[in-house]
Amino acid sequence: TKSRVFKIVTIPGDGIGVDITEAAVAVLQKLAVVSGTFEFEFTEKDWSSKKYQERGYYMPEDGLDQLKKFDAIYFGAVGWPVRIADLGPRTDVPDHISLWGLILPIRNALGQYVNVRPTRVLRGITSPLKDCGPGDLDWVIVRENSEGEYAGHGGTTHGAFSHAVATEVSIFTRVGIERIFRFAFETARSRPRKKLTMVTKSNAQRHGMVLWDKIFTEITKEYPDVETDKMLVDAMTVRMTLHPKTLDTIVATNLHADILSDLAAALSGSIGIAPSSNLDPMREFPSMFEPIHGSAPDIAGKGIANPIGAFWSAAEMVRWLGFTEAADGLMAAIENVTEAGIKTKDLAGASDTQTVTEAVCKEIEKVL
Ligand code: NAI
Ligand code: MG
Repeated sequence: TKSRVFKIVTIPGDGIGVDITEAAVAVLQKLAVVSGTFEFEFTEKDWSSKKYQERGYYMPEDGLDQLKKFDAIYFGAVGWPVRIADLGPRTDVPDHISLWGLILPIRNALGQYVNVRPTRVLRGITSPLKDCGPGDLDWVIVRENSEGEYAGHGGTTHGAFSHAVATEVSIFTRVGIERIFRFAFETARSRPRKKLTMVTKSNAQRHGMVLWDKIFTEITKEYPDVETDKMLVDAMTVRMTLHPKTLDTIVATNLHADILSDLAAALSGSIGIAPSSNLDPMREFPSMFEPIHGSAPDIAGKGIANPIGAFWSAAEMVRWLGFTEAADGLMAAIENVTEAGIKTKDLAGASDTQTVTEAVCKEIEKVL
């Protein structure tokens, strides 16, 4: 049979985004060759904070249209908030500029209204929680990715004066809420435990979150086979930490899920492990795959970034493109490597990015 060719655009971005994107591309190429059922054609876009400093923008005016021509987007990380003398002339960019100059416009314009963040304790990795091994923490966080607290509504008045005022308005729409809950229910239904926990804060946020709760109750009726419960976001941090086994699929707003998924990553061993998929479930536009971590200026340029989150994100991309077996194979290869103790410093290991990457490539040959 002829193999399918997928056009993938990579945006390495800043800091360790560059290191881990290079590692992910190497692993994806290896996977394609060994699997023999698909091929990748990579195109790289240098839309970084360095470029922003040089020319005043991240992506060109037709940047979003350029992205629409690809089958998927692989993203590293963007952000360069600090000035670091020994990393050359690169200067700092405020975080709201980098976020709104690149990643948020892509998520918004390409209909990527779901952000999926799986977390589990991989073989060979130690959770900071005691008695929490593989199987004890196995979650999928479904994050609303298009509105809520990151809708961009608001403004500043009297900005230059001591009576400056700024508003940040959360937007919750019936369409936005219904579609994220339906996706979360489908996700829960596809997993063995068929269990969905909805995160809210309707005690204090008495408009948007009350609508959120109301629609959840409505949609629950469409999925009688899925077991549901409801948590306030503050109490949720306690449950995640003390009773990780009681959770399976989790759905939360843009901001709440952003925070909870960093906690989830830390509880499963390191923020360097965790993947995320920005999905357009309608498949009208390309979806985007990226590790959840940022550009990590403190370790950038040292070759020691953990590439596992990048590999796991690559596996999710392969899965989204329809190659379940290859995706599972890549995950098995990753876990064989972590189990063998070939790990970066954030996981208390001694290997660098390149060593872990080569080890995963070697395992792919054995597993597939
Ligand atoms: P960060 O995730 O870059 O780093 C937090 C800590 O985790 C640092 O100590 C870092 O060394 C460590 N870390 C992160 N990824 C790692 C990896 N793969 N291997 C080993 N250690 C790792 O978050 P931070 O410092 O808050 O943000 C830095 C910049 O990244 C900011 O400009 C921020 O806005 C941006 N950022 C961008 C994201 C994106 O592009 N989607 C997501 C999160 C942050
Ligand atoms: Mg985050």
